[in-house]
Amino acid sequence: MSHKIAVLPGDGIGHEITEQAVRVLSALGLDLTLEQAPVGGAAYEIHGHPLPPSTLELARSSSAILFGAVGDWKYDTLARELRPEQAILGLRKALGLFANLRPAILYPQLANASSLKPEIVSGLNILIVRELTGDIYFGQPRGVRTLEDGPFKGERQGYDTMHYAESEVRRIAHVAFQAAAKRNKRLCSVDKANVLETSQFWRDIMIDVAREYPDVELSHMYVDNAAMQLVREPKAFDVIVTGNLFGDILSDEAAMLTGSIGMLPSASLNASNQGLYEPSHGSAPDIAGKNIANPLATILSAAMLLRYSLNESTQADRIEQAVQRVLEQGLRTADIYEEGTTRVTTSQMGDAVLNALK
Ligand code: IPM
Ligand code: MG
Repeated sequence: MSHKIAVLPGDGIGHEITEQAVRVLSALGLDLTLEQAPVGGAAYEIHGHPLPPSTLELARSSSAILFGAVGDWKYDTLARELRPEQAILGLRKALGLFANLRPAILYPQLANASSLKPEIVSGLNILIVRELTGDIYFGQPRGVRTLEDGPFKGERQGYDTMHYAESEVRRIAHVAFQAAAKRNKRLCSVDKANVLETSQFWRDIMIDVAREYPDVELSHMYVDNAAMQLVREPKAFDVIVTGNLFGDILSDEAAMLTGSIGMLPSASLNASNQGLYEPSHGSAPDIAGKNIANPLATILSAAMLLRYSLNESTQADRIEQAVQRVLEQGLRTADIYEEGTTRVTTSQMGDAVLNALK
């Protein structure tokens, strides 16, 4: 069966990194149709919108989306709805991509890349399951209003709304419990239930769903403590499940524990396993076009794409093993380079992965 894959390179280093992932996907001998479209600032330049209807339509009609990165400082002054970030938020919402899987894995060959002591991080392998289409990110009402009474009467006030519907919490809970069941069977739900009603509700639902997964051990942690424990003893975690805002923050922290955000893929899935796959890092406009960015996070995102949306886990394994092999060969892009290894460019890293696939 032929699968259509939308390739949305976006801005900054997005083009050069997705190019390498596309080469890898095309080398597997699968029946794939890869179709490219602009997104983010690149789409704004052409169509006047970061997520034009033609790009959204391509995404909707594809089995999966390979996404590069969006954003550039030069768009910071645009109205919010025209900024590149709206493309990714719009795709998440339009396609219902509620389940964001962000693994943080420290490759043994890269143990020195972390700013933490090797004994704290070596062998780290945690998975953050972040709810992606609810919470304060999308809650209504939001905006700026003028207060009509109270201590700040007459002043303008900025406001957003945090809320979670029961079904939104239940479905992400199931994704997280199922992921934990396939790993070390420990799930930590992160919230702020000591302060927020939304969080207490989230916690109650997690406890309820846990009854369906007697093999998985559920624990709870306040988000401030979780931020601390992640740097104190990160290996104590297996799977973390949390809401959109806390997950945004904690997943950046977890990625940095490995010292090599250029290595980390992510998947955003909807109820029918249609997914958007992107590196955990951003568009890095400062190094765009220099052929020095690390394409491995995007190549590993392509592996996740094969595993989750195309049910091709053998091919996904092949890619992941090829990446292991190039690391063992000592090949490093600038972000993970250390003395005694071989510095390579973006495209040379792509070449090496292609060779290792054979
Ligand atoms: C992420 C990013 C996005 C988010 C931005 C670009 C809107 O930080 O994917 O984590 O906040 O979700
Ligand atoms: Mg983020």
